[in-house]
Amino acid sequence: MPLTGKYSNWLEIDRGAIEANVRQCLERTDVQVMAVVKANGYGHGIVPVARAAVRGGATWCGVARVEEAIELRRAGLDAPILVLGATPAGRVQEAIGERVSMAVWDVEHVEAAAAATNGTNERARLHLKVETGMGRLGIEPGEAAALAQRIAATPGVILEGVFTHFARADEADPAPTEAQERQFAQVLAALQAAGLRPGVVHAANSAASLTRPSAYFNLVRVGIAIYGLNPSPECPLPDGFRPALSWKAQLTQVRVTPPGRGVSYGHQYVTRGVERIGVAPVGYGDGYRRVPGNRVLVGGRAVEVVGRVCMDQIMVQLDGVPEARVGDEVVLVGEQGGRRITVDDLAARWGTFNYEVVCGLSARIPRVYQG
Ligand SMILES: Cc1ncc(COP(=O)(O)O)c(C=O)c1O
Repeated sequence: MPLTGKYSNWLEIDRGAIEANVRQCLERTDVQVMAVVKANGYGHGIVPVARAAVRGGATWCGVARVEEAIELRRAGLDAPILVLGATPAGRVQEAIGERVSMAVWDVEHVEAAAAATNGTNERARLHLKVETGMGRLGIEPGEAAALAQRIAATPGVILEGVFTHFARADEADPAPTEAQERQFAQVLAALQAAGLRPGVVHAANSAASLTRPSAYFNLVRVGIAIYGLNPSPECPLPDGFRPALSWKAQLTQVRVTPPGRGVSYGHQYVTRGVERIGVAPVGYGDGYRRVPGNRVLVGGRAVEVVGRVCMDQIMVQLDGVPEARVGDEVVLVGEQGGRRITVDDLAARWGTFNYEVVCGLSARIPRVYQG
């Protein structure tokens, strides 16, 4: 029978794994850890993940959007939070009031933040984002020191941090990351020459936190590693990290089906003989993709998903598991009877990467927290 008996399909999230993975990051880098919990904690649930990360020793949480930061504050999280993306002008005041730090890369951001503190005792905490080769957000390196000086001279705002983001730290070739790091080092030197010392300096994502001590500065921003998932095939996690997420369902029907019976929309699968076909209540509405070749675990064996994946159901071929019964556990990701399906396995099957698999887990799937 399923763990809880309450859900059609559900995610089991091991908070102890997240806590232990953060501890690993701390021990390996020996600098502060910012747990990146954006996109609902990479699908794992933003609030429980943030709490587990803080228990594991994370001093910061990183989010993409101010709404995510506010959700953490509403849940009582007191740790410093940085919004890594743009904070819309209409939310700047709220961010300041909630002690949420903001990434900035132009004068308009700085002025908006300063204006929002006018007439209050509050201070806007700003992290200057430098574009060194990601080709995304940030100020050009040559203009960074001037903006930093402007921040330092503007009442109501504090230059709390300076940071950049790597585009290719998860690849075997270190050259592109070295080039970004050199650009960032020049910016830091220019800041120092101007007498500016932001409290936190950060560049490393999970991949760089595993491979590039020169990029640790005094804080690493780790996302994928705290969930126990590999930054990339070229940059796997070392021993000691463990995945936090399993995805399970239960069989809701097992039928003996006559030969020649079409299964699911379009009848792309037709039974060849008398076949045992099971139904599990999970589908593309949960984020389980409609691609051929899906496999799940039932009774400790890997079985084929047959016919098209529906919005809320899949059908599985159970001839190899004659003992399978209604209520039996179906594992989509995780371990059963010594066999394992990883998030990377799903990603390979779906022609994507592990980040997208976990971020694509629908909000409607119940998250069951353990540990
Ligand atoms: C700015 C920034 N820093 C850190 C991270 C964490 O990256 P990772 O999950 O690869 O550790 C992300 C995630 O995409 C990011 O956008």
